[in-house]
Amino acid sequence: MNKTARKVAIIGTGFVGSSIAYAIVNQGICNELVLIDVNQNKAEGEALDLADGIAWADTKTTIYAGDYADCKDAALVILTAGINQKPGQSRLDLVDTNAKITEQVTTEIMASGFDGIIIVASNPVDVMTYIAWQASGLPFNRVIGTGTILDTARFKKEIALKLNVDPRIVQGYIIGEHGDSETAVWSHTTVGGKPIIEWDNITADDLNTIYVSVRDAAYEIIDRKQATYYGIGMSTARLVRAILNNENTILPVSAFQRGEYGEIGLFTGTPALINETGLRQIIALNLTAVEQVNFETSVNQLRLTIQSLDS
Ligand code: LAC
Repeated sequence: MNKTARKVAIIGTGFVGSSIAYAIVNQGICNELVLIDVNQNKAEGEALDLADGIAWADTKTTIYAGDYADCKDAALVILTAGINQKPGQSRLDLVDTNAKITEQVTTEIMASGFDGIIIVASNPVDVMTYIAWQASGLPFNRVIGTGTILDTARFKKEIALKLNVDPRIVQGYIIGEHGDSETAVWSHTTVGGKPIIEWDNITADDLNTIYVSVRDAAYEIIDRKQATYYGIGMSTARLVRAILNNENTILPVSAFQRGEYGEIGLFTGTPALINETGLRQIIALNLTAVEQVNFETSVNQLRLTIQSLDS
């Protein structure tokens, strides 16, 4: 089946799905963008609204509201359907409702004859990616969760603020669950190539403060505006760009684990090489003993959540 190069479908046009669409259109990442939602009116409204800006965009994107049949020749389908966190709720609290939605939506996508790459953004994203992979029957390298891409962007931002530098010169990763048990790989965090622990004006307390700010960022935003969407929108657009442009870049996505970090059989945030095939390979970093324990603790939380669904 021929895929239409650079055609992207987004399932769910709520805050997250429409923010991903806005980022993709503004950055001119794809040629064709179809928006699908159970609320057809909402999808049509978002498509019409986005199309109004195309005359001033750098590149032309054909945008329209469609249905699952439009997934057939898409290169990429982005899954955002589901409920989002309310104040005080954790991402894992969403699992029962969103698991059912994710399975149903994935089945509809595959019924169209889709044979591309699925990106999952619905929360709890590591578990939803596992469910989408199972329901899709696609090879594990073609089902990718946004994972800790957003957390890592927050990590870069917080370090950059502390050191008054450009976040784009901060290199490092948040790994594990996109959630309360995520962990920072401080041993591989550098700023302009200099290990962060060698920078003068940053202490161990500062590192802990930075970690807590990153881990709890969504709660701070949700307490103020009831949802988060611009950060995940731009983070997902980054992943879309890496795939459609065959970048072979490294991003911390929710990837299927096959032992690279001592865990197998589930999806969680680890650095991975991303290209037009989807996941090329997971990049195994030598974690410190503390980082490894933190990662395993995070993965165990995900394993328990998946098991609770199967019970
Ligand atoms: C957040 C949502 C996307 O971290 O989980 O903002």
